[in-house]
Amino acid sequence: MSRIRVFAGPAEAGAAAATEIAALVRAKPDAVLGLATGATPLPLYRELVRRHREEGLDLSRVRTFNLDEYWPIDPEHPASFRRAMLEHLIRPAGIPEANFHIPDGRTPPERLVAAAEAYEQAIAAAGGIDLQVLGLGLNGHVGFNEPGSHAGSRTRLVELAEQTRRRAAAAFPGEEPPRHGLTVGLATIRSARRLRILAFGREKAAIVARAVGAAPDPAVPATLLVDHPDLEWFLDRAAAARLPDRV
Ligand code: GLP
Repeated sequence: MSRIRVFAGPAEAGAAAATEIAALVRAKPDAVLGLATGATPLPLYRELVRRHREEGLDLSRVRTFNLDEYWPIDPEHPASFRRAMLEHLIRPAGIPEANFHIPDGRTPPERLVAAAEAYEQAIAAAGGIDLQVLGLGLNGHVGFNEPGSHAGSRTRLVELAEQTRRRAAAAFPGEEPPRHGLTVGLATIRSARRLRILAFGREKAAIVARAVGAAPDPAVPATLLVDHPDLEWFLDRAAAARLPDRV
């Protein structure tokens, strides 16, 4: 069963998630973290950076695997997830770049299948993901697993939903947002030992109410995770506002 934790705001939720990650890393310094991009995890990343700088949290042995990336995209593009992770977490938190993994937005088409398999193998070789941080798309996507994604899906190239592209448009001024993304699959995500889905703000309230506690439904990909044995939702009050039983 999933557990729902409701906090006053994103900063409080981010601090609670950081506390859990810090405890995990103290117990297992080379822990494997699954990471997400987007606005939602930023308060968590800010807090991890703060603890690294002010409290000596040592993240130098942590290994990280990000969920997804646009395709194709240059790693230096301002909208690339690779660049966002380096800027917001990896460099300021003292995680060696060699320990940071993310699907490569420059992978040529003929290498996509092999690169996806290599990504899965790298996760397995690291011992699997100890804790996976997830955001939630307005259509219920996790990573770039858009509605219709299969519960058994693995790392692959996907077509982005129109809603996802419209939302991404602001990050691509003067150009078309990408039509595709590379994402780990729902089965990849489900094999993580802990799942932590973060969702903040009024705009997420409707999809949170649809996803939390729902029966698995491929139209809302997050529902395909709900039978995970260790799933927790980190919500703020605004995102939790439409849940049937307010916590
Ligand atoms: C993006 C990313 C997801 C992210 C989600 C929510 O498209 N591919 O990994 O979790 O959408 O983004 P945000 O946190 O900005 O609302």
